[in-house]
Order: sequence, then C-alpha cells, then structure tokens
Amino acid sequence: MFKVKNLSIERCKLIYFPKINDSRGNLSFIEEQNQIPFQIKRVYYLYDVPSGATRGGHAHKALEQIIIALSGSFDVILDDGRNKQAYFLNRPHYGLYIPPGVWRELENFSSNSIALSLVSAPYEESDYIRDYETFKKMIQNDPK
Ligand code: TYD
Repeated sequence: MFKVKNLSIERCKLIYFPKINDSRGNLSFIEEQNQIPFQIKRVYYLYDVPSGATRGGHAHKALEQIIIALSGSFDVILDDGRNKQAYFLNRPHYGLYIPPGVWRELENFSSNSIALSLVSAPYEESDYIRDYETFKKMIQNDPK
C-alpha cells in the first residue's frame, strides 16, 4: 500500500559529485556506495526535448531518483502536496535527489539538454501516480 507519511520535498536535496579539473577539462564520477542513497537499478535519459515541452508530470509510490543535467539546463518543479520548490539544474557535477511521494515537472529545457536519471528500480508502470488529483487525495489521506 502507498504511504506518503514523512515523505516531503524537505527530503529532496542536491547531491554533489567529485569534479576533477585540469587543463584538459573536467571529469566527474559517481560511485553508488559513496554518493547515491539507493542501489541504482536503472539509468535513463531525456534528450532532443523540444523547446516548450514539459516532462515528468507524475509522482512515484516507491521509486527513488537522482536527476542530473548532463548537458544544458532545465527546471525541476517539486510538489509534495503541501509545498512546492523549484530547482534549476545546469551543471553535470551535481544531481537532484527525489524520494517517493513527490510530484515532479521538468520544464524550460535549453537546446541540446540531456536529463540523466539514476533510479532505484526497473521500469514499472504500477509505481507511477500520473493523475494529480489522485496524488492530492493520497496526500490528504496521509495521517501526518
Ligand atoms: P514518461 O513517464 O512519460 O516520461 P517522463 O517521465 O520523462 O515524462 O515515459 C514515456 C514513455 O516511456 C512511457 O510510455 C513509459 C516509457 N518508459 C519506459 O518504457 N522505460 C523507462 O525507463 C521510462 C522512464 C519510461
């Protein structure tokens, strides 16, 4: 059963990855055991996003996620049913951690942007909440 108790945008946070700079440019790396608060089970990426398009528009029941602007920039608007918070992602050496129970919209993609996602589970449509009213009802039923 989906429980949103104690799940809120306050648990969302930026996670910074190492950045090694020399005259040849920058190198960043991600080690699951050091930087990621979950086991990475899947990686996917958005690219060729047309100007003005919005991605996301859903919450997850159990999935944990980190979104990285590997290239370009975009906004991530988070909403836990009580509060909203916007993050502007524009550098590849940090990512935005999103726990379950948070509605997200990705918008204002710059040209040639790439949104990389590291997530905690294989693709499972039943983990998605794609209807905002359903999401709001689930939040209202939260005994928190
Ligand atoms: P969708 O959830 O609409 O993408 P976004 O959250 O970025 O807006 O997914 C688009 C389609 O791709 C949808 O039919 C589900 C499918 N899909 C997969 O098959 N595997 C995946 O890992 C993901 C993320 C989506």
